[in-house]
Amino acid sequence: MKVGVIGVGYVGLVTGVCLSELGHDVFCVDCNKAKIEKLRKGVVPIYEPDLDKILKKNIKEKRIRFGMDTARMVKFADIIFICVHTPPKSNGEADLRYVEAAAREIASTMRSYKVIVDKSTVPVRTGEKVAEAIKRYNKKKLDFDVVSNPEFLREGSAIDDFFHPDRVVIGVTSKRSAKLMKELYAGIKAPTIITNIKSAEIIKHASNSFLAMKISFVNALANICELSGAHIEEVAKGMGLDSRIGEKFLNAGVGYGGSCFPKDVSAFIRISEALGYDFELLKAVEKINTNQKQLFLKKIEETLWVLGDKVIGVLGLAFKPNTDDMRNAPSIDIITALQREGAKIKAYDPKAMEVAKRLLPGVKFCKTPYEAARESDALIIMTEWDEFRELDLKKIRESMRQPIIIDGRNIFDPDKMDNEGYIYKSIGR
Ligand code: NAD
Ligand code: UGA
Repeated sequence: MKVGVIGVGYVGLVTGVCLSELGHDVFCVDCNKAKIEKLRKGVVPIYEPDLDKILKKNIKEKRIRFGMDTARMVKFADIIFICVHTPPKSNGEADLRYVEAAAREIASTMRSYKVIVDKSTVPVRTGEKVAEAIKRYNKKKLDFDVVSNPEFLREGSAIDDFFHPDRVVIGVTSKRSAKLMKELYAGIKAPTIITNIKSAEIIKHASNSFLAMKISFVNALANICELSGAHIEEVAKGMGLDSRIGEKFLNAGVGYGGSCFPKDVSAFIRISEALGYDFELLKAVEKINTNQKQLFLKKIEETLWVLGDKVIGVLGLAFKPNTDDMRNAPSIDIITALQREGAKIKAYDPKAMEVAKRLLPGVKFCKTPYEAARESDALIIMTEWDEFRELDLKKIRESMRQPIIIDGRNIFDPDKMDNEGYIYKSIGR
């Protein structure tokens, strides 16, 4: 099938590349010239495992191309995915200006029937607005269908998530577009939910909010564990083995970050408010997440007492492992607060340092975790990269001013750390 993609960020690029791998002909456009130039050369502008290999293969086999001319893409494609960003406004509401612009661009250049698929995460009723905009700006009054096909991929495992999703959700208003969408995803073996557009839109916000709620719940429990002397990992395991609860997303830590959970939880609160419902539960989810970072800071302060002039090594900057994405990374809040108190920060991350350099002035970026630890008064762990689990703890301890590790991701066993001679603090145990 002939597929167009508007916006080649994390979602658009993965969607375009993976659809080309499924055998479709894909034309991706983005208004960011630098991104398009890189992609044309087969260079992926983000770090996402294996994406570069599949991209190069499909460029070579001429199943995917990149450009900036939306009109040409619209002429080419039968199915067009809108994958632009939907950032938060200052009040938490989703800013839909990029979605609207994409809809207008499609409407003003389409010359035949198109299926316009919204993949960006949007408030319920956006599908209706997109359809209205297309009707308004399409002077020829051509037939079209709007579809909602929310994306559930996780950064760092996006390729696997695309090819092996838990489900594919397709919100439609016509049988014709439902048939085309099923055909498009015929190569994916997963339960497919065909529903109306509003339900599909809510499924996305509800899923992200529910997952965020799981994390806040376990973080709240971690605090109860610390106050009572219980062990959060054992508590989470004991709960998670109940198949109605599930083991996933019960890792306590410094709180959720990233470009989606914080934005989507607050958007869902605003959406509910606009519909006349006060989603108090989600407000608590947000509050717990903010508090979790404060509690981590307090833990550092209680351990080090005065922070002024202390040297703190930071392991991990990205909001999660296997990505270079720094959007809403908890490390930013923690490092900025420590700097405000006068601490000097040395940091290391396997992939996110280039991006982090633009966001974290005053931080000394190190080439290895050992360099970040050397001569520091404490080491804090902000992201659970696998390479940190393999560190030579003896070498680290001997190079530090004080053998203190404050672990925001619970990557080490407290008893082992005690035996290694560390003062080791973690979350909820
Ligand atoms: P992103 O910021 O990485 O990419 C958006 C891209 O759209 C940018 O490259 C931008 O230049 C381009 N763009 C914007 N307007 C355009 C236009 N009119 N024409 C051409 N290009 C245009 O965003 P993202 O992280 O890929 O997220 C996109 C959407 O998908 C958001 O709604 C997000 O909530 C949702 N989502 C993201 C993820 C994720 O893991 N990042 C997962 C699921 C859903
Ligand atoms: C999340 C969802 O998992 C995806 O399904 C969704 O498509 C995406 O948001 C989106 O809409 O953009 P992502 O943000 O890439 O994906 O990463 P997650 O693995 O969900 O992690 C999000 C945050 O939660 C990270 O900061 C992570 O450290 C934190 N987290 C996750 C925990 O603190 N504990 C956990 O048990 C799991």
